[in-house]
Amino acid sequence: MTTTTLGLLPQKDLLTIAQLGSGDVETIFETTRSIKGDRAAWSRALAGKRLAMIFEKDSLRTRFTFDVGMQDLGGSAVFMDHRDVRLGSRESLKDMAKNLERWVDGIVARVYKQRALEELAANCSIPVVNGLSDHVHPCQALSDFFTLTERWQDVAGRRVVYVGDGNNTCHSLLHVAARLGAHITVCSPEGYEPNARVVSEAMLIARETGSDIQIVNDPEQAVKGADAVYTDVWASMGQEDEIEERSAIFNDYRVDEELMALARPDALFMHCLPAHRGQEVTAGVIDGPNSIVYDIAENRLHVQKAILVLLMGRDR
Ligand code: CP
Ligand code: NVA
Repeated sequence: MTTTTLGLLPQKDLLTIAQLGSGDVETIFETTRSIKGDRAAWSRALAGKRLAMIFEKDSLRTRFTFDVGMQDLGGSAVFMDHRDVRLGSRESLKDMAKNLERWVDGIVARVYKQRALEELAANCSIPVVNGLSDHVHPCQALSDFFTLTERWQDVAGRRVVYVGDGNNTCHSLLHVAARLGAHITVCSPEGYEPNARVVSEAMLIARETGSDIQIVNDPEQAVKGADAVYTDVWASMGQEDEIEERSAIFNDYRVDEELMALARPDALFMHCLPAHRGQEVTAGVIDGPNSIVYDIAENRLHVQKAILVLLMGRDR
């Protein structure tokens, strides 16, 4: 199957879902379904293409799925570990981008600052994909909602309730939910709500799609009627020195069996992983029958292969 039968994304990079136009998420999902359904048919889609993977933070899922994804598509990936050397400290991001574009066909970067991704993208002609920043985690939220479409067919009108820190994962969930017309409630302790600019971006998109967005503080009220309950770690990478303080603040925001009992009886449990059993979620919930965490992790592979094909699958 050629990629042109499905259409390509109009933009060069995927730095945040807020940059995607209406229809782009559907294009990614349609391509994902095709790739997931027939791996062999796509095995030469990126033949000879190379991907640079630059990571300032740890990773299991993102690193493996982009690397294996490139191999599945006939290409290759080169990993550059930047956990000990912050991007921009040895040489400028501009010089890095201008070197990399001479050797590879795309970049996936996991960074602290969203600005670092923007600077890389602005200084090269090849696609740059956000593999997580402090601000957003777009590939994660796309995989989350792709997994929900597999369960529910249509996510429009369904409600996902995110309980926890208004962080990078939460921001991208807001963007994707709004884009797809899904309802989303974010329930965080006061002072840990999602970024106001992200909420405005999502609300603007929601006006077109009919998505309802609620930002609240009471978990028991929030999860009532939820079709899915999502949580993430209380302290993200880079916030290790806040773990103790946050554990006390988030203690009432743990997703446990009692909280899940207030959601719909068939409500799904979601988490981007890595998870900390006994902190943000109990073992009974994450290891229970309604947990879809490993389906989401599997779909990281298929969704990111679609993103790579859609961004790198043509000569620029
Ligand atoms: N969910 C996720 O991005 O996992 P990693 O941090 O292991 O890549
Ligand atoms: N919010 C988490 C997500 C990890 C995949 C973090 O940034 O550490």
